[in-house]
Amino acid sequence: MTVNIREETGEDTGAVHEIHAEAFGDDLVPRLVTRLRQRQATLVPRGYLATVDDQAVGHVMLTASWLDAPRKLVDVLVLAPLGVLPQHQRRGIGTLLVARAIEEADKAGAPLLFLEGDPAYYRERGFHEAAPLGFRKPSLRIPDAAFQVVKLSAYEPWMTGTLVYAEPFWALDCVGLRGDNNQD
Ligand SMILES: CC(C)(COP(=O)(O)OP(=O)(O)OC[C@H]1O[C@@H](n2cnc3c(N)ncnc32)[C@H](O)[C@@H]1OP(=O)(O)O)[C@@H](O)C(=O)NCCC(=O)NCCS
Repeated sequence: MTVNIREETGEDTGAVHEIHAEAFGDDLVPRLVTRLRQRQATLVPRGYLATVDDQAVGHVMLTASWLDAPRKLVDVLVLAPLGVLPQHQRRGIGTLLVARAIEEADKAGAPLLFLEGDPAYYRERGFHEAAPLGFRKPSLRIPDAAFQVVKLSAYEPWMTGTLVYAEPFWALDCVGLRGDNNQD
C-alpha cells in the first residue's frame, strides 16, 4: 500500500467532506471545514490529502488562530480537523498527515501549532501538553491533557499566553467537550 500526501486542490472539496463526514460520523466537521476555508487570515488555511491508489482516504487542515501574548497578538496555527476513512485507519495514515502538517506549519512561518485531541495519540507524534509550557486553553471545556502544542522554528520564548480560536470554531460550537462528555 503506497500512501501519498499532497496539498489539496479545489477539486478535492467533495472528497474532503466525505472523509470527515465518515470519520466523525456527521456533517458538523465538513461544515467547519467550509467555514474555515472561507476565513481571511494572515496565515492562510491549508489542507493536505492522503491518497491510496489515487483514492482520497485522509485529510488534515491547518487553520489560523491567535496567541494572546503579553507583548502582542501572535498569528499561530491550529491542526484541525484530522480525519481518516474508517476502513483505512490504523495503517499509519493519520501519523503521516500529522507529520506533514507540522512540517508545513513550520514552513508557513507559524511559531506554534496547537490542537485539542487525545494525548495518547498526539504525544507520540510530536505534540506536548501546552499548559506546562506557558499556554492557556481557549475553553475550560477542553481537558488539560488534550490541549497540546508543538513549538516551531519561529517560536520565541516571550510567546506565552492564551490561545484564541478563530470564529468558525465558536460559530459551529466545535470547542471542547459538553455535557456528559466533560469529565473535567
Ligand atoms: C484519529 C485518526 C485520524 C487516526 O488516524 P489513523 O490513520 O488511524 O492513525 P494511525 O494509523 O497513524 O495511528 C493509529 C494507530 O494505529 C497504529 N498503526 C499505525 N500504523 C499501523 C499499521 N501499519 N498497522 C497497524 N497499526 C498501525 C498506530 O500505532 C496507532 O496506534 P497508537 O495510537 O496506539 O500509537 C482516525 O482514527 C480518525 O479519523 N478518527 C476519527 C476522527 C477523529 O477523532 N479525529 C481526531 C480528532 S482530534
